[in-house]
Amino acid sequence: MPSDQQPVNVLLIGGGGREHALAKAISKSPRLGQLWVTHPSNPGLAALGKPVDVPVDIQEVYRLVQFCDHHEVGLVVIGPEGPLAQGYADALATENRLVFGPSAAAARLESDKGWAKEIMRGASIPAADSRTFDDADAASAYVESRNEPPVVKACGLAAGKGVFVCETIPQALDAVDRIMRQRIFGDAGKRVLVEERLTGPEASLLALVDGRNILFLPPCQDHKRLGDGDLGPNTGGMGAFCPASTIDTRTMARIESEIFVPAVDAMRREGAEFRGVLYAGLMLTPAGPKVLEFNVRFGDPECQVLMSRLESDALELLEATASGKLDEIEVRWNEQASVCVVLASQGYPDAPVTGVEIEGLGDAQAMDGVDVYQAGTAIDEHGRTVTAGGRVLGVTALGDDVAMARARAYEACAKIRFAGMQMRTDIAGSDVPATRA
Ligand code: AMP
Ligand code: GLY
Repeated sequence: MPSDQQPVNVLLIGGGGREHALAKAISKSPRLGQLWVTHPSNPGLAALGKPVDVPVDIQEVYRLVQFCDHHEVGLVVIGPEGPLAQGYADALATENRLVFGPSAAAARLESDKGWAKEIMRGASIPAADSRTFDDADAASAYVESRNEPPVVKACGLAAGKGVFVCETIPQALDAVDRIMRQRIFGDAGKRVLVEERLTGPEASLLALVDGRNILFLPPCQDHKRLGDGDLGPNTGGMGAFCPASTIDTRTMARIESEIFVPAVDAMRREGAEFRGVLYAGLMLTPAGPKVLEFNVRFGDPECQVLMSRLESDALELLEATASGKLDEIEVRWNEQASVCVVLASQGYPDAPVTGVEIEGLGDAQAMDGVDVYQAGTAIDEHGRTVTAGGRVLGVTALGDDVAMARARAYEACAKIRFAGMQMRTDIAGSDVPATRA
């Protein structure tokens, strides 16, 4: 048997809905040996993999390295940005072990928005004009000097909540105050970006990148605001759908040649070759597509809608990305559309209430074409499934088109109940505003 046909043991790092979706996709691979998971407290992950029996802590990462050596892990898949920024990929990759996910140096594209702007500027990648500040007073003075209210962003990682799109100058001053002086995101707020506010439809585009080759994934759209009509605070994402039709072929070609190709080349020139998922949050402005942000991982819940549609072997796809062989494989996607509706806890995103019993999960999961991905769930001491985080479940359904997938996803959501459950009712709806003017 050729070596690439041997069963592959996989370690999956991360514990949310994105990782549950990845675990489920990887589990379908005929080549999977043993799947190991770092977050068995998520019952979705516990059902698919065995828990690692060493701490998952970057200070003691040698123990995870030893674990991988001992259990002959051939592929490590890193879901969230935190472990990528901390350098898990660097620590775990060896000659015999592939890692899906960028090095810490390459993950800086997401973990340091100020640096990402420098890379973009250096590579002439279109993005909002911005300035970076280490000093709160200087940032405030700059905000006050502007005619238009800007967007204020914490430069570090802030769980998708570090961006303030301000309507007025006082709001922008308040954002600087909260990020830099009150440090509501901790050290992630040591530096801020004060950025021109762009207008236009938003789109996200994700691509697998193996250092050189770029393989675009079908376009997705997520819904970041908590409330219907795109109102309320920013969240990690309250739902998503795929395919999204905001990007036409001409725009797609521009995004490839003006954004992805120069970004991937710039990273190589920086000595920070990018391997993993490169996620561009874009605004399609009258002057063309511009980058709002780069992420260095699958979006959550974009990953859920993508994995539900993936027909090819996920393990092979992740391996090809990690080993620089994306040009050798073909990816097949289900013709059907998929829609994910997130069910969140009472109090999310500020202070989610946890420990609340969830009912109806099994009924929803039993529906044809439905995957209920678990994110903030746990099993309590009585064996009940309870809420354990902000975003609790990602109810994901396939359908012949987006409208049918959407109808099925909401039908599945209607079977699930927990006290204080928050759900947007307009995910993938045609009435979702496409512009933020
Ligand atoms: P980000 O986390 O950078 O994607 O920002 C979260 C959301 O804030 C985006 O989805 C946009 O809706 C909005 N946003 C970020 N940057 C800008 C900008 N320069 N102009 C207008 N809206 C923005
Ligand atoms: N859903 C947006 C993100 O994962 O950043």
